[in-house]
Amino acid sequence: MNEKVIIFDTTLRDGEQSPGASMNTGEKMRLARQLEKLGVDVLEAGFPAASEGDFEAVAQVAGVVKNIEVAALARTHKNDIDRAWAAICHAKNPRIHTFIATSDIHMKYKLKMNREEVVKTAFEAVKYAKSFTDSVEFSAEDGSRSDRDFLCRVFEAAIEAGATTLNLPDTVGYAIPQEFGDLVKYVMAHTSNIHKAVLSVHCHNDLGLATANTLAAIYAGARQAEVTINGIGERAGNTSLEEVVMALHTRPNFLPVYTNINTEHIYPTSRIVSMITGIMVQPNKAIVGANAFAHEAGIHQDGMLKNPMTYEIMKPETIGLSKSKLVLGKHSGRHALRSHLKELGYDISDEELKLVFKKFKELADKKKHILDEDLEVIVTEGILRTAEVFNLEYLHVSSGTTVKPTANVKLKINERSAEGSGSGNGPIDAAYNVIAKLTGSKSELLRFSVSAISGGTDAQGEVTVRLKENGLIALGRGADPDIITASAKAYINGLNRLEYLKANPIETSEVI
Ligand code: KIV
Ligand code: ZN
Repeated sequence: MNEKVIIFDTTLRDGEQSPGASMNTGEKMRLARQLEKLGVDVLEAGFPAASEGDFEAVAQVAGVVKNIEVAALARTHKNDIDRAWAAICHAKNPRIHTFIATSDIHMKYKLKMNREEVVKTAFEAVKYAKSFTDSVEFSAEDGSRSDRDFLCRVFEAAIEAGATTLNLPDTVGYAIPQEFGDLVKYVMAHTSNIHKAVLSVHCHNDLGLATANTLAAIYAGARQAEVTINGIGERAGNTSLEEVVMALHTRPNFLPVYTNINTEHIYPTSRIVSMITGIMVQPNKAIVGANAFAHEAGIHQDGMLKNPMTYEIMKPETIGLSKSKLVLGKHSGRHALRSHLKELGYDISDEELKLVFKKFKELADKKKHILDEDLEVIVTEGILRTAEVFNLEYLHVSSGTTVKPTANVKLKINERSAEGSGSGNGPIDAAYNVIAKLTGSKSELLRFSVSAISGGTDAQGEVTVRLKENGLIALGRGADPDIITASAKAYINGLNRLEYLKANPIETSEVI
């Protein structure tokens, strides 16, 4: 029988290290539930020693996830391991994931430790973690640039101390597939006790090779892949879950292994991640990009009509991409709304349905046909965004060819209301000036982009902003049929994310 590849999802930890991709606790819990539904085997919920906010989020995620393992990251410090355990001790299946760098460059410059000290530290950390839980993962950070024999020595020590998973990261995305596959083979052949543990890989995408390296490692015998949804993560990101899973699914003859992933939840999960983080998926992204199943060339369209298999190696339905996009209208009822949301991957409570239904009706008054994309926006803005400091109560603007653009804005700031007016170079500038004044924000607007969510002149405009304040970067996203309102919503969303980052600073000094 084919062997299983364990899918270890780190969207909530490494994924959240994407510039600007902070998620609040409510958003993390929502995503955790979705990842469980998707069928990941292990969910890395965060790095509890990094901040109080991280600790709290990991603890809450550990409480909502029922049937899969919940991992918490920890350096090899005793305090980190204590914090990791305190955050996940109530999980049904807890895993402590501890790591230390093993490459000469990291040991010399970052850790200022010699090889003997690193082996001893790894051994002791795993042993300590093992005193709390049976499931302990050890990662050799910068493993792909480490001396091979030393790497095997550290792994041997970690297994001796009780590690059940050994993770080999390509931390800086430096490896080339054939080389990485060879390294996996080497580790399997030269780590004497490797049969007592699962060998895992964790690749970054700096050279665009994360998926290729992960597949080469699986081909060579690795049986856990560490991945994120949409490939989000530090710098150029991590290996994307959907690419690895669909490659294994589509090419079973070449890679005779299987995963536990329910592929039909891939697309809804991808959408939820981009809605929550504000990180849009590039249109040509494999599997989940807007163009991944779009056939433009006439010759291709002709072939597709004759037999879809001529140009399509996967069916869109397999990843949960529904064919019909037109969904609901003004007269649609609550029941239809709930069942359509379910199809999109949103399982919402009765209380949430009330709120979403109200917003749906409001939008249906302005827009004739409500599409999937519109519903996603309603859900994100209505229920995925929780614990916000600033909320838009109203916005009035006046602009045109012969008047000075002015804006009048009322915000709810925590429990109090604040109102003001001002002018600007255009209506958006005017609205932003007033919002900045009311919130006291000193943030700098690094990027502003606008697009239409769907076709037609009544389409909702979608605005994404990137804000910077005191070295913190946050993305904001907003949508509305009125582009000025969408812009204001995006700005306010970015400001809320900055507030969250300010309240949850990353306290660790070590870069991971
Ligand atoms: O990239 C990396 O090395 C990591 C480790 C902490 C596993 O994220
Ligand atoms: Zn990483």
